[in-house]
Amino acid sequence: MISAEARASLQESIPAPMGHFGAMVVAEARLAPGGTGDLHWARSGNIREELDMPLDKIDAALREELEALQAQGRAKAPERIIREVVPPEGKRGPRYRLEGSDQLFLRMNSNSYLSLSHHPRLIEAADQATHEFGVGPGAVRFIDGTFTPHAALEKRIARFVGKPAAKIFNSAYTANLGLAITLTHDRTYWIGDQLNHNCIIRGMRIANVPREQKAIYAHNDMDELRRALEEVPDGMERVVVIFDGIFSMRGDFAPLKKIEELVAEHHGRFPEGVVTVVDDSHGIGAYGDHGRGTEDFTGGHADVIVGTFGKAFGVNGGFIAGSEQLIEAVRQKADTYIYTNPLGAADCAAALAAVDLADSKEGAQRLKHLHERIAQFRRGVALLGIETIPGPHPVVPLLIRDTDQVRAWVKKLYEKGILVVGLTYPVVPRGEETIRVQINAAHTEADIDELLEKLKQVQAEV
Ligand SMILES: Cc1ncc(COP(=O)(O)O)c(C=O)c1O
Repeated sequence: MISAEARASLQESIPAPMGHFGAMVVAEARLAPGGTGDLHWARSGNIREELDMPLDKIDAALREELEALQAQGRAKAPERIIREVVPPEGKRGPRYRLEGSDQLFLRMNSNSYLSLSHHPRLIEAADQATHEFGVGPGAVRFIDGTFTPHAALEKRIARFVGKPAAKIFNSAYTANLGLAITLTHDRTYWIGDQLNHNCIIRGMRIANVPREQKAIYAHNDMDELRRALEEVPDGMERVVVIFDGIFSMRGDFAPLKKIEELVAEHHGRFPEGVVTVVDDSHGIGAYGDHGRGTEDFTGGHADVIVGTFGKAFGVNGGFIAGSEQLIEAVRQKADTYIYTNPLGAADCAAALAAVDLADSKEGAQRLKHLHERIAQFRRGVALLGIETIPGPHPVVPLLIRDTDQVRAWVKKLYEKGILVVGLTYPVVPRGEETIRVQINAAHTEADIDELLEKLKQVQAEV
């Protein structure tokens, strides 16, 4: 409790508002260490002064935690900063300049599969929406933070993925958290693929799903999924089967048609049925003949689709698409939708332009070009005799199967101006150490040839 005396003293220290925007008030009130309830405060114009509770103890503890991550090989490398995007020229696609270097890099580690983030139509749409609606929404959606571009994007993405309705989120990550909260009650049972994305796993934790109400099947193992469905405990009313459409570390896909068949066998056993959810963040826009993702590629069907605008569409934000009732439940129940500002109008307008574009003749041409470049790269990789996981997705994993070798390849490729990601244990199981290459629609035939030539050089050097 803050004492009346302390409160009075604090208030005295804060200048009265000046004019419409008020004075810059920077007052720091802190409870003293030891929990006495005494209030310490400091104000020095606009400059905060640290008086007490320095971070030295917790910093020391955090340092130990970070050192442990480093020792376990789980620490992230320092972040490189892209300081310039160099436009395509002649036969080559875009290149990147990084801070601290003048070298031009070919980027093979981006999820921007259709390469739309510099498209003039997206930039113009974002510009126009910014001029019309401003740069921020000013409030959460249900407190008048909903603008025309939010509503328009929801309708458009629902139509694109063939569902009656959709809700947009700040990211696919928060969409998955919100979906888990929405669908979980005390008799919900969750079944998921072992390699599901972190946000699906976190979603179940945030939704407080108890251990005995979830099951995991080995990656894409349909016998294990069948068993998990058969073993759902009595008393469960609703079952959710959730999986990535495309598994981003491997570029392989969920066998959606088979999953649909298995789920159909069990749907009748539960009062609220069995629902399938595909997180198709790496599929929507880039995969299948029409860019509709895993449904398009496999011919299967999922009841609910989660996706992102931040990969194939080249913008930002996520969505859930499903029935009208589900989407209204999301609006009412999903904390990650309710208690946070939405995307700005510019992101929504750019994402809408991206979906329109993906759905147009130009989109179809980009997709065709992308698929041709993937095929070109895969042919070259086969000729080099590098092991990979087959499939037509833009994620092409090069299975090197050794941590030191992966590091050596990534370093040498970097020195030759190629940006790729090395995936080592514990991100992937031991023995599956991989270099992940991602193709996008801005890559030219000459770019892929250059990449293959440099892979060949590195293969001879390591
Ligand atoms: C399957 C899956 N879901 C969600 C995400 C997160 O997408 P976003 O960046 O929109 O949060 C990713 C990104 O890596 C992903 O692979």
